[in-house]
Amino acid sequence: MAGEVEVAQVLLYARDLKVQYDATRAREQDLRLAYGRLQAAHRQSLRYADDLKGTHDRLQRAFFQSLLGLANALEAKDPYTRGHSERVARLAEQLALRIGCSRSEARIIAQAGLLHDLGKIGMPEAVLRKAGPLTEEEWRLMREHPVVGAQIVAPLEFFSEGARIVRHHHERSNGSGYPAGLSGEAIPLGARIVAVADVYDALTSDRPYRGSLGRAAALDHIEEAAGHLLDPEIVSAFLRLVSDGCPDPRL
Ligand SMILES: [Fe+2]
Repeated sequence: MAGEVEVAQVLLYARDLKVQYDATRAREQDLRLAYGRLQAAHRQSLRYADDLKGTHDRLQRAFFQSLLGLANALEAKDPYTRGHSERVARLAEQLALRIGCSRSEARIIAQAGLLHDLGKIGMPEAVLRKAGPLTEEEWRLMREHPVVGAQIVAPLEFFSEGARIVRHHHERSNGSGYPAGLSGEAIPLGARIVAVADVYDALTSDRPYRGSLGRAAALDHIEEAAGHLLDPEIVSAFLRLVSDGCPDPRL
């Protein structure tokens, strides 16, 4: 009798174990299914993130192209500045490569060259085209254009270095420039490069208040400015570029 009871208990215990085993298998199955669904959802999220990043990048590029168009339109209105930024960009890119910048650094410097004076869009035409000397107030307005330009390009995340170049392209080696009065190597390298290209192109272009200085006199001016207004190393690289026969039509 005692033996039958024990057998019955063992059978009961075995049945419980079987029930628990089946329940565990069922939970594992559920977990596997849930894990599979989670993985699929994760893959879908990654695809959405990729799509969003692609859209964001395309929007940034489209915005950049619009700004280039705006800069072109601003210059094209004025026969004295037409093509200036394009020439500054080409020259700055060659100069950047000459001093050992990588291709991608040189490209950003060239793009900053294209947009360096975009901030002038906020300035009155009467000041931009004035043939005579500017008044104190007009100079104050004129000195705002690097900061205005940097603010316009600020939403371009891929162009943060370009924005720094735009902001500081009127700094001078001795600290007498604007907007921040930076000196020497505190001025971003790209801004020092664009400054040399900008000054050279301005000197070799006609302006309402003077004609082009011509290549030789412009090169003399650049050489004289080395060390106090322009970065001496960039100037010497520029002069080497010229003596080696730079392909730029103005050199
Ligand atoms: Fe400028």
